[in-house]
Amino acid sequence: MDFIDNKESKFKEILLNVKEEERLGMHSFHRYYGKLIPAIPRAFIREFTKVGDLVFDPFSGSGTTALESRFLDRNFIGVEINPLSVLISKIKTNNYSVEMLKRIQDKLLQLIDEDKEEVKAEEIPFVINRDHWFKDFVQRDLVIIRRNFDKAVDEFIDDGNKEKYIDFLIAVLSAIVKQVSNADTMHVFPGISKRMRRLESEGKIKINVFDTFRRALKKRIQFVEQVGKHDVSTNIMLGDSANIDLSQYSDKVDLVVTNPPYISSVRYAETLKLELYWLEVTKSSSDYMNLSNSMIGNDHIAKKDCIELQLTKYDFVNDYIKQMYEIDKKQAKVLYDYFSLMEKVIIKAQQVLKSGKKLVMKISDSKIRKIKIPTGYLLTKIAEENGFKLIDVFNDKINENSRSLLTSRNTYSDIILEDNIIFWEKK
Ligand SMILES: C[S@@+](CC[C@H](N)C(=O)[O-])C[C@H]1O[C@@H](n2cnc3c(N)ncnc32)[C@H](O)[C@@H]1O
Repeated sequence: MDFIDNKESKFKEILLNVKEEERLGMHSFHRYYGKLIPAIPRAFIREFTKVGDLVFDPFSGSGTTALESRFLDRNFIGVEINPLSVLISKIKTNNYSVEMLKRIQDKLLQLIDEDKEEVKAEEIPFVINRDHWFKDFVQRDLVIIRRNFDKAVDEFIDDGNKEKYIDFLIAVLSAIVKQVSNADTMHVFPGISKRMRRLESEGKIKINVFDTFRRALKKRIQFVEQVGKHDVSTNIMLGDSANIDLSQYSDKVDLVVTNPPYISSVRYAETLKLELYWLEVTKSSSDYMNLSNSMIGNDHIAKKDCIELQLTKYDFVNDYIKQMYEIDKKQAKVLYDYFSLMEKVIIKAQQVLKSGKKLVMKISDSKIRKIKIPTGYLLTKIAEENGFKLIDVFNDKINENSRSLLTSRNTYSDIILEDNIIFWEKK
């Protein structure tokens, strides 16, 4: 079932041209798997909105759409369920004084250098299998860096801006956590690879936490300088986009640009496991599991919840759910959950958009238990039943970064097939 007719797409041309442009360094503030390529929001924010308009991303992740909106002087609202992602995207879109950041940087580096006090056990965050992931001296050095943030910022700021600057430092610390851990940075999911073990045994792993932090901080202050100041509002809300109350934005949004999670193989939380624990966003394994299980597309489903066949109000979706139920009850429930929640998000997007305005979505089809699920097509049919019409759709080359999210550990879930960029318009 293919709703792409391979005709020439004007929008594809526009995107190809924008892909040639230089991207902002700020997009690389923090590693984040499943990121949108910045050219997608950039191209269509320019095409469909003007300065001062309002852009919305219901899965705002690390803030790619948020940052591009801000850079192009558009207001932005976003929703994201992972508090660490909210932190990262806020940092990318705050107005900072570069001069102030530099002063804080100098003070902080001095404080770290002078801090000779012993690190107490209770200062070290809970990380599942902590000693497996972090060497003793790395744990101590990370604590020393973190415990000087308040003092460094206090030296210069005593008003409401204090938190914003501390958050910047926390985000930089988060950005280096994986780099100074024992995990292989070449791998998407934390793991100690053969390669790392070999390098370790040959004495080739040299970790210097303070140096890594110092370099990371300097580079990120340069990113802030490049983005510059922008007089627009960026509001990134922590929450579940299927259920959050957006009534205050009804008929106020000029464009939605988003890439929702894929069905089933979503392991976004796992890619950030070490950072989530080290920053104490998740303070226990149950905190971590709760976050992971709250994400759309996750497949942590209890057996008892899969026994009964659950169907949506759409026959075109139910056909796939029923087919799946015959071979795998759990995956049938994953499909049911995914399309039910995405329906809610589509309805919310429709409510906040002004009429005649567009929603641009990057999504890929999935193959689960050898059944191809045409996700983009099914979401389009749902959108058409909820006040949208399809304007255009084309294939974009798959981003290797997102392909690697879906690795062989999931036996049932084949790799994603291709990325589609879909354009709907509110009727
Ligand atoms: C494909 S990523 C989006 C990445 C983003 N466009 C970027 O460039 O960083 C999907 C995001 O949806 C988030 N997410 C999953 N379930 C959610 C929900 N129910 N509500 C809000 N966000 C959710 C995940 O945490 C993840 O960051």
